[in-house]
This record gives sequence, structure tokens and C-alpha cells, in this order.
Amino acid sequence: MYSLWKRWCKKDASSALDQRIMDIKKCEVPQHIAIIMDGNGRWAKKRALPRIAGHHEGMKTVKKVTKLANQLGVKTLSVYAFSTENWKRPKKEVDFLMKLPQEFLGTFLPELISENVRVEMIGDKDSLPAHTIAAVEKAMDETKDNTGMVLNFALNYGSRAEILAAVNKAAQDIKSGSIESDITEEVFNRYLMTDKLSDPDLLIRTSGEIRLSNFMLWQLAYSELWFTDVLWPDFKDEQLVEAIEVYQKRSRRFGGV
Ligand code: FPP
Repeated sequence: MYSLWKRWCKKDASSALDQRIMDIKKCEVPQHIAIIMDGNGRWAKKRALPRIAGHHEGMKTVKKVTKLANQLGVKTLSVYAFSTENWKRPKKEVDFLMKLPQEFLGTFLPELISENVRVEMIGDKDSLPAHTIAAVEKAMDETKDNTGMVLNFALNYGSRAEILAAVNKAAQDIKSGSIESDITEEVFNRYLMTDKLSDPDLLIRTSGEIRLSNFMLWQLAYSELWFTDVLWPDFKDEQLVEAIEVYQKRSRRFGGV
């Protein structure tokens, strides 16, 4: 049975994109894909445009990738939209990035609703501008009963801060006696912002950078990693399909044999 499945999964890389999409759907599609969307600034610089033009184009890529991931049957798509370190950027750029969720959800929410997508967010809400959080919370509320793909925005997210907050909360719960058991991986997972999500099966990072940049460090322990030189605004359906084809050829052993 296993060898039959493997044979099925053999792809002809030269076939048309639609055929490749049909082929990957016949095999195991990663349930959770996480993306570090990098290269917006370089995309803009190459065109002598301001950096914010790259972020705006990158937002359009998020729409395209969301549609295809949903069509492929991906259960969760996590996108790293703003890190806890991104506040170091010029104010004009930060202000622009903080307006993007409003624009994205303002134009795309009806489609997300009709496609049964549920919007979620991980990150520290407290220091986000009110207009940013209002747009995300409205989308979360209006999609809360949707049962299809989860589109999870990492906004003002940093993995070390997430882990520290989890450790501190668990320590408090031990002190107060509300936890009696040892802290196992399963118990610890409940303290993370991703408590309701499975760990990513596949991490994609664009723009040729080969690092995790404080993204889901705990959750990515056994994820397959795929890097491309393509800048995020240039990322097309073709690249998502290629990443999944590569994923389907990998052998995941989770430390076993
Ligand atoms: C990194 O590229 C990208 C970011 C810090 C922002 C990512 C945001 C988007 C793609 C917009 C999507 C947002 C929503 C809400 C849909 P960079 O600017 O560091 O690129 P560079 O390394 O080339 O300068």
C-alpha cells in the first residue's frame, strides 16, 4: 500500500500547473503551512519604489496564496505579518504595515466568509494600534463559525516572548496549585498562542534568507523547511505547488527510522 502511494506521488515536474495541482491533491497535503513572507523591501528597491509599495504588493500575494491553499485542502495557513522586532523599522513603514490588515480584510473578508475560512491571530494584541486590532477582531468574529481553513496572522508575534509568557503562566499555575501534573509537551502546548493549532508541517521562507527570525521556534521542531530565492511579492501559485511537491517527496521520521 505504501509503495503504491509513493508511486502515485511521483510527479512530472514539466506538467501544466493545473495538472500539478490535481496531482498534489491526490497525496498528503501539509495540514499546516507557515510562511515567513520576506523580500518586500528588495522587491520595491529593484523597481525604485518605496519599501511600502513592496508590502502592498506582498499583501496581494497573501490573497492569492490563501485562495490556493484553501483550494488544496490546507487546514491552517500561518503568515508572519509583523514580528516583535519589526517595531525597529521607520515609523512610516510601521504605520503602513499596521494599516494593511484593515485594507486586506476590508476588501477580502466577504470572500473569506464565502470560502468558509476562519481568521485567527497570534501575537501581542496590547501594543497594536486600535484600528489594526479592531479590523482583525471583526474578521475573527465574523468568521468564528467557519469550519474551513484557518488563516492565522502572526502580528506583533515573537516566539521567545511567547515561550517566556507560557513558562511564566505555567509557573504561576504550579504555585497556585491549579496544575498538579508535570509539565509535559502536551501541557506546555496549552500555554502557547498556538494552543488550538497543530504544529506546522511545512515552513516556507522567501527571498533567499535561511533563518527562522523568531518565528514559531517551539512549533517548528519537526517541520519540513523550504526556502526559495523568490521575493514574496513575486511568489506565485507555482512556488506554492513546488514547495508542496518537495514536501511530498520528503520522508518525515520525527526522530524515528
Ligand atoms: C519582510 O520583508 C516582510 C514584512 C516584515 C512584512 C510582511 C507583510 C506583508 C507581506 C503584508 C501582508 C499583510 C497582511 C496583513 C495581509 P522585508 O520588508 O524585510 O523585505 P526586505 O528584507 O527585502 O527588506
